[in-house]
Amino acid sequence: MSTAISSQTLPKKRKILVTCALPYANGSIHLGHLLEHIQTDIWVRFQRMRGHETYFVCADDAHGTPIMLKAQELGITPEEMINAVREEHMNDFADFHISFDNYHSTHSDENREFATEIYNRLHASGHIKTRTISQLFDPEKEMFLPDRFIKGTCPKCKSEDQNGDSCDDCGATYSPTEVLNPRSVVSGATPVLKDSEHYFFDLPAFEQMLKDWTRSGALQEEMANKLAEWFEQGLRQWDISRDAPYFGFEIPNAPGKFFYVWLDAPIGYMGSFKNLCNKNSNIDFDSFWDEKSDAELYHFIGKDIIYFHSLFWPAMLEGAGYRKPTAVYAHGFVTVNGAKMSKSKGTFIKGRTYLEHLNPEYLRYYYAAKLTHRIDDLDLNLEDFAQRVNSDLVGKVVNIASRCASFITKRFDGMLSTTVDDKDLADEVMNAGDSIAALYESRDFGRAMREIMALADKVNEYIAVKEPWQLIKDESKQQEVQDICSLGINMFRTLMIYLKPVLPVLADSTAAFLNDELVWEGHKSLLTGHKINKFKALLQRVDMDKVNAMTDASKENLAPSSIVENKKSKKTDKAKNKTKAVDNSAALANPIAVDPISDEIQFDDFAKIDLRIAKIINAEHVEKADKLLKLTLSLDDNDTETRQVFAGIKSAYQPEDLIGKHTVMVANLAPRKMRFGMSEGMVLAAGPGGQDLWILNPDDGAKAGMRVK
Ligand code: MSP
Ligand code: ZN
Repeated sequence: MSTAISSQTLPKKRKILVTCALPYANGSIHLGHLLEHIQTDIWVRFQRMRGHETYFVCADDAHGTPIMLKAQELGITPEEMINAVREEHMNDFADFHISFDNYHSTHSDENREFATEIYNRLHASGHIKTRTISQLFDPEKEMFLPDRFIKGTCPKCKSEDQNGDSCDDCGATYSPTEVLNPRSVVSGATPVLKDSEHYFFDLPAFEQMLKDWTRSGALQEEMANKLAEWFEQGLRQWDISRDAPYFGFEIPNAPGKFFYVWLDAPIGYMGSFKNLCNKNSNIDFDSFWDEKSDAELYHFIGKDIIYFHSLFWPAMLEGAGYRKPTAVYAHGFVTVNGAKMSKSKGTFIKGRTYLEHLNPEYLRYYYAAKLTHRIDDLDLNLEDFAQRVNSDLVGKVVNIASRCASFITKRFDGMLSTTVDDKDLADEVMNAGDSIAALYESRDFGRAMREIMALADKVNEYIAVKEPWQLIKDESKQQEVQDICSLGINMFRTLMIYLKPVLPVLADSTAAFLNDELVWEGHKSLLTGHKINKFKALLQRVDMDKVNAMTDASKENLAPSSIVENKKSKKTDKAKNKTKAVDNSAALANPIAVDPISDEIQFDDFAKIDLRIAKIINAEHVEKADKLLKLTLSLDDNDTETRQVFAGIKSAYQPEDLIGKHTVMVANLAPRKMRFGMSEGMVLAAGPGGQDLWILNPDDGAKAGMRVK
């Protein structure tokens, strides 16, 4: 079980504080961010509905070098920029119905106070170390350069124009001081090495505590496994200081030294909550953050920032005498139509662009329908999105109301009958509440949605069998019609109670239609002898033309609306992929991929790819690899030119079934050292994944019983 809390063992009324990761204040909110905010918002709305004292806070993450440089580029102060971006973010979230109790900024008085206090406490208890390190410095800009602001020639393969910490060509990772012909991305100058004293947080001192905490049920299984790997590699001291110029908070008693953005970012959770408490005297800050607090604290985050939330953050809290999170819940990344979000394909979709074309509740439902409690990536397939929303929400749920409402209004003056036509059906729908609640609690929203839709199917079937539209023609059957339609309306109401955390606006219009508030406990009773209002269309179908208009618009607005995005270059996009690096050390320690944004290639780039038909002459399992098979591919008839390739196709093939078959391979991919050996190319496969994955081979269709052409 991954859930920290099981509902049986809990006090009736819980105190719950929930956060989402704080978005950076230098870019717009996109559909990737929204997965996190929608997931969290559904969970929060569910907890509130169940009567728990629940607070949901977030903020913009406003500090750091990229934000400082972006503001300079735009010729405004960082404060001006972060204020404008925060405004934009808040509007986007509000329009997706994300129900924050507070949305603050890490550049705030509250946050400065907590960051200072936490640092001072860590310092006093001997958990801050200093030492001098040598780093690349831009002599023109007079600033130290983060790794991703250095470019140069790869020390391994000599490929030019590579990043300061890794090579896109050969996959090598290295220290920025090893880069050949390095240059500063900021000024173009050649960086020089310069010494500077840095402040380190002594993470290794917390190893035992972190191990115990990991086992306390605070983490999902996959996350706990990841941590076990990190413990095995050994924890390292974490560099928490940056030299001026830096946009952030100055470190106490260390003039010219600033807290690294990731030091004060999670503290921003406290800062935002404190700001809420300052505005609302009924909420007691200490009772949520005291070491002995009995309140629950949850952080919802993406998989790229697990290291910060599962190691640094609990260790900082412990070291400073605060409580630790009850649980950290990570989600996977959003892909669109099966691929990384891509600006050129129009699938890098901003929240605002979506809102200009589509109803936010469609997306809330679709994400809910696909979310699990695990860390898997989530594909937003736009065709499937339209189809799913139309079939489930319009075709199943709202359909129940539209089939029953007009009879009640026209023939029975809006009055629901006093008898229950089919008690078994009513009981089944009403009794599902507990299991649906358990699924919400454990963040298995997809399963909750399936359970709700299965009930909707039953209700529709009941109406279809009863055919009230036939009975209405018979004068003697009027009571029956009222009973059938009243049960239909009641079942619609119960289902909308279950869906309310996901669809708050549809729930509100339903409440207005039914003259009922749709509180959670309401699922246990029926409305009898109750007057309802005239039915108005509750939800439009998703129009695929609008979906297409949205992706078209996303292609157009490559240079986006928000002031800060205007000059965004390809360079900074690539750099963004690296923003989660915790200095070098943790970046290497953290193999989980970061935000994927793909770039368009030209025909010349494509022509460089040497695609060849290859024969698989050997295939075998790879010990300890859950996805990989090791293939030996022959590129000619005599098997003189062969390549060894590790391919992630184990879910679809037994090695013995592959031997003798043909596939298409990229034959000129630079060899890459993997944990299991060298991989000297790549094979192409098609299919949605899992077992449905095909190496391109004509008789492969037999695998799935397809007809072979
Ligand atoms: N500022 C840090 C978080 C500090 S928390 C103390 C940050 N910001 S971010 O804007 O890059 O990302 C914010 C959240 O959005 C992260 O949890 C991140 O994982 C999530 N996502 C960003 N792109 C995403 C997808 N494409 N898909 C799903 N989630 C994504 O990291
Ligand atoms: Zn290289």
